[in-house]
Amino acid sequence: MTKFRRIGVLTSGGDAPGMNAAIRAITRKALDCGVEVMGIIGGYSGLINENIIPLTARSVSNIITRGGTMLYSDRCLEFKTEEGMQKAINTCKKFNIDAIVAIGGDGTFRGATDLTLHGIPAIGVTGTIDNDVTATDYTVGFDTAMNTVLDFADKLRDTCESHARCNVIEVMGRDCGQIALMTGVASGAIAVCIPEVPFDEAEAIEKIKSAKAAGKRGFVVMVSEGVVYTDENGNSIPYGEVLCKKIQKETGVETKFARIAHAVRGGSPTLRDRLTASKMGLVAVELLLAGKSNRVVIEDDGVITDMDILFALTVDRMYKNKLKDGDLDRYSAEEIAEMEKICNKRREEINSLYKMSYEICK
Ligand code: F6P
Repeated sequence: MTKFRRIGVLTSGGDAPGMNAAIRAITRKALDCGVEVMGIIGGYSGLINENIIPLTARSVSNIITRGGTMLYSDRCLEFKTEEGMQKAINTCKKFNIDAIVAIGGDGTFRGATDLTLHGIPAIGVTGTIDNDVTATDYTVGFDTAMNTVLDFADKLRDTCESHARCNVIEVMGRDCGQIALMTGVASGAIAVCIPEVPFDEAEAIEKIKSAKAAGKRGFVVMVSEGVVYTDENGNSIPYGEVLCKKIQKETGVETKFARIAHAVRGGSPTLRDRLTASKMGLVAVELLLAGKSNRVVIEDDGVITDMDILFALTVDRMYKNKLKDGDLDRYSAEEIAEMEKICNKRREEINSLYKMSYEICK
């Protein structure tokens, strides 16, 4: 068992409900094992700027219920430079931080792997509302974000029903449509538009027309922010705004546009997020204490386990069609087949849910 005296914990990238629960679990587990914990404030910037506080069992008390992250977060460009990395390493040395647990998404894990390469063992814990880390079935924050969207959509449906209107709702998720897809199904949206599946606009409009003819009054259409329309001048416009106007024009149903935006990232985490964050936080510390690093804690078919960060980042690029030359060179045929399997699993899940949304939401 590796004996670390002191570890650091940070949250980076877009905040996600449940990050606090992970910080709490990491802190308490490490302290129980006789390891001190330092909280790094403001993500990787905190490592560069020496913005560091000690965490105790009491200082992480009562945070499990809170949204946001008590350690704050940012997207730190300086950390990507060699100079920034050197400052971060010096800070670790100055504060006797032997290892880091980094909570966030793919950008955070790239930072964690760089730290490991520079001699500071790091472990990643997935925390992002988007659920867009291909290697894991689940990222902390996803469930809370979906429930926030669902509440928003249900409220809009009430008023749509009263006034015989349609509401196009744009939700976050970057290039990943899972929040839109799942909340679309759960809110009974008549159409769902996500980046992963080609959208048949004419079919969606026809569905609204025929449902209206059959007596349906209120409509919700869920669109992911990742779907963008390019106009004749080459300008990118959020597709939800474009679709909203088209629905009104072609169906005669008064149609409003609503963007829930960053509200989806806030709020008290759901049970699912508190529980998953706690389990993942615990595993992260166990991994470090077992002498492992450069691992990311993932959920695979309901089991919390771990994976090599570089492998996870490569799977992610494979799924997102962003593989660079040489990315696969270091992997065996079996490992590449395993990556393809993970990508296919996700594609199949999304495709089958999308199909279902069209079958049952009328
Ligand atoms: O990754 C989380 C996320 O909320 C995405 O859904 C969204 O595209 C992005 O972050 C927004 O980033 P920012 O907080 O920088 O506006």
